[in-house]
Amino acid sequence: MANPDLLKSSSAFAERATQLSRHSTPYRDPVARIHWERLSHDAFWLPQQAVSLYGIEEYEALPLPMRQALSHHEFARFLSAGIWLESVFLQRLARAALKGPRATRIYHIHELREEAGHSLMFLEFFERAGLPDSATDARFDPWLTWLGRRLPFRSTLFWSAILLGEEIPDRLNRYVRLHAQGVCPVAVELSVLHSTDEARHIAYGQEILRHRLERAGGMTKRLLGYALSQLLRRFVATFYYPPQDLYIRAGLPDEPWAARAARHALRRQFVDHCLGPTVSRLRELGLTIGWP
Ligand SMILES: [Fe+2]
Ligand SMILES: [Fe+2]
Repeated sequence: MANPDLLKSSSAFAERATQLSRHSTPYRDPVARIHWERLSHDAFWLPQQAVSLYGIEEYEALPLPMRQALSHHEFARFLSAGIWLESVFLQRLARAALKGPRATRIYHIHELREEAGHSLMFLEFFERAGLPDSATDARFDPWLTWLGRRLPFRSTLFWSAILLGEEIPDRLNRYVRLHAQGVCPVAVELSVLHSTDEARHIAYGQEILRHRLERAGGMTKRLLGYALSQLLRRFVATFYYPPQDLYIRAGLPDEPWAARAARHALRRQFVDHCLGPTVSRLRELGLTIGWP
């Protein structure tokens, strides 16, 4: 006989999926909503405090156009990483469109449409900004790609990895939203539109995790906490610490910029500031997260 508690929580879960689906309608194409004519190369594309070298003496001494160019490259990499993650997630969502209860299938297809809209919005940004493919065609963590493709769709680890993959870049989008002054308005609009959809996706991921952890034993929680700590580090490296060649492509003098960013206290504080709420929420769910 079916466990009545399990049935009750499954129907509550389906109800939550239906509620989130309702908030996804009517769908509005983000590409059509952005005021593209406001795109400017004579502005920062990220708040200055969000640029990886912010506060480093040698960087602050560089001329303004060079510092702005670095923000352009960092923002473009951030969007490219978004396309990479979304492409993995889109593949998984598309395959799951035929499986599972109707309420969750409908919600998954809403997410699929929204993620496709984000990737289109990012590619349109590259197009309008005149960025060549070589500037946006980056390689990202192959281990994360492998996990994203291979973890079973219904597993807690898959949805936890998706949750981190959405929440870690979203914290930066939120920072842009709250510190928009002096930032190119199109970069801000894009971050705000992305963040609005992600709020629902993140709520869904948190709901799955909470639902699964209600029934998880201590050992499962310990293992999951360990796995999420590893994933957290990898996502942070991907989204918050650009590789050395990006600084050179941005036109900065040939100096060890990536190493400087990695050991600079202000950068670490910025990342902690962005990710603090994410880590606290995971800890509140009873997971031991090794951070910082
Ligand atoms: Fe997205
Ligand atoms: Fe998302």
